[in-house]
Amino acid sequence: MGKLFFLISGEHETLPVSEVEAILKAEAFDYRIVDSLTQVLRLEADPNCVEAIKARSALTRVCCKEIFNCKDSLPEILANINSDNMDQYIGDETFAVRVRRVEGITPEIDRVKLEGKIGGEILETVKTSKVDLSNPQKTFFGVLTDNRFIFGLKTAEIIPKPFSERRPRRRPFFHPTAMQAKLARVMVNLAQPKRGDLLLDPFCGTGGMLVEAGLIGCRVVGFDAKPHILRGGLKNIKHYGTKLEGLAIADARYPPISKVDCIATDPPYGRSASTLGTKTRLIVEDFLSAVGDVVPRGAKICMASPKTIKIAETAQDAGFKHLESHFVYVHRSLTREIVVFERT
Ligand SMILES: C[S@@+](CC[C@H](N)C(=O)[O-])C[C@H]1O[C@@H](n2cnc3c(N)ncnc32)[C@H](O)[C@@H]1O
Repeated sequence: MGKLFFLISGEHETLPVSEVEAILKAEAFDYRIVDSLTQVLRLEADPNCVEAIKARSALTRVCCKEIFNCKDSLPEILANINSDNMDQYIGDETFAVRVRRVEGITPEIDRVKLEGKIGGEILETVKTSKVDLSNPQKTFFGVLTDNRFIFGLKTAEIIPKPFSERRPRRRPFFHPTAMQAKLARVMVNLAQPKRGDLLLDPFCGTGGMLVEAGLIGCRVVGFDAKPHILRGGLKNIKHYGTKLEGLAIADARYPPISKVDCIATDPPYGRSASTLGTKTRLIVEDFLSAVGDVVPRGAKICMASPKTIKIAETAQDAGFKHLESHFVYVHRSLTREIVVFERT
């Protein structure tokens, strides 16, 4: 176990931390959360877990080995740049220092000047090191947040651009009910599949959830009741090279499959998504009473639905254990509840 910290997205209050924990659980890494600061998660974990976070996470930005953390005061920060702390991280390599200030939380402290001062102190402490701002061999990374400064060696950076390149409007087939790729990836992670697991999306629509699951190494299977939407979904799935185990026109309330490892899904909302004339709540109830037989004990199901449906209660009534809920504001009359529950 090593001391790590992750800079996480500020776009949602609870999802980024839950996504990290779901990935660590799915990939069976031991971990302990040490501190959850604004946009910084400090933890003790196997440093190899960074590979999994990098390959899977939609809401983590930077992963680091923690070197020290202290109050956000310049004298204290510089006092921590000493050979005890630095010798094991840099010898005769080139380096750069990058500092991120989490907006609106930490009092003004000049970020660029701080990078320079820390860089100067590292040069003084480790005389064989050299600065290279354009192509450094090592990058030291600090975050100013909640009146603290967390400093470490960067081990991975996750670029969010591929998610916007897969946004619904950029896919070969578009339908207004499609979910953003980033949220679909988060939901897939919350269902905790490990590489090679079979993930089902029984209301797969344009296929976004299946594409995201395929990209992290899951086997995938999808159903949708609407043939033309499923045809479009198939186009999207092929476009991203996702290998399908199966795709069928089917009513999710009667799933034509005997076993899957986990489920991530976004049932219809009774708005632009067709509900085949049935109330959303009833579809979800019927789906949940049918799906218990399809997943093994301990399997996770991640579902999105309008907050008004109170899906967590519905799942508990159907005999599932409610693990967590996250609320995502979409517009004035729609807040989505992203809920995770477990088959008991
Ligand atoms: C909110 S959309 C899913 C969107 C999908 N996550 C995407 O990114 O495209 C819900 C989907 O459920 C489908 N649907 C409605 N009732 C269904 C049922 N009983 N069984 C299976 N699919 C159904 C609709 O055709 C629609 O494509």
